[in-house]
Amino acid sequence: MTNTYPISVTINGKRLEKNVEPRMLLADFIRHEAGLTGTHVGCEHGVCGACTVLFDGKPVRSCIMLAVQANGHELTTVEGLAESEDKLHPIQNAFWEAHGLQCGFCTPGILMTLVPFLEENKNPNEAEVREAISGNLCRCTGYQHIVDATLLAAKKLNEVAE
Ligand code: FES
Ligand code: FES
Repeated sequence: MTNTYPISVTINGKRLEKNVEPRMLLADFIRHEAGLTGTHVGCEHGVCGACTVLFDGKPVRSCIMLAVQANGHELTTVEGLAESEDKLHPIQNAFWEAHGLQCGFCTPGILMTLVPFLEENKNPNEAEVREAISGNLCRCTGYQHIVDATLLAAKKLNEVAE
């Protein structure tokens, strides 16, 4: 029988306590133990960025971390972005308005990459946006709408902050 270890993690502001196998990936914990399926798993080896979540406020790839490493830490997933079903996060609104999501598979990872990026860089130019999301692969089409949506998101966030 495989040993399990108790972990206590805060996800989107809520404490979750579970016993997990030491080899369980953080992405699988988020999806299967926490039931938060907005975090997607694409490549499962740290390349595509679809599994990106915030770990103590910093973007990490949850497919190359273990759930036990999250013990005592705070996670935010895409489900934690909107204040409520009726009130999306400004970045989500910008993606909606500027057609930044296509099939949407990569979108949660991109949003979670952009949250800390736009906190640090409030007026990014197009080249900076492209660099910021260079670790997030969208397999649908081009990136132009995603870039446009990010520039719109920066504008919206600045309006909210005013
Ligand atoms: S699934 Fe984690 S980086 Fe691709
Ligand atoms: S929107 Fe489909 S993979 Fe990016």
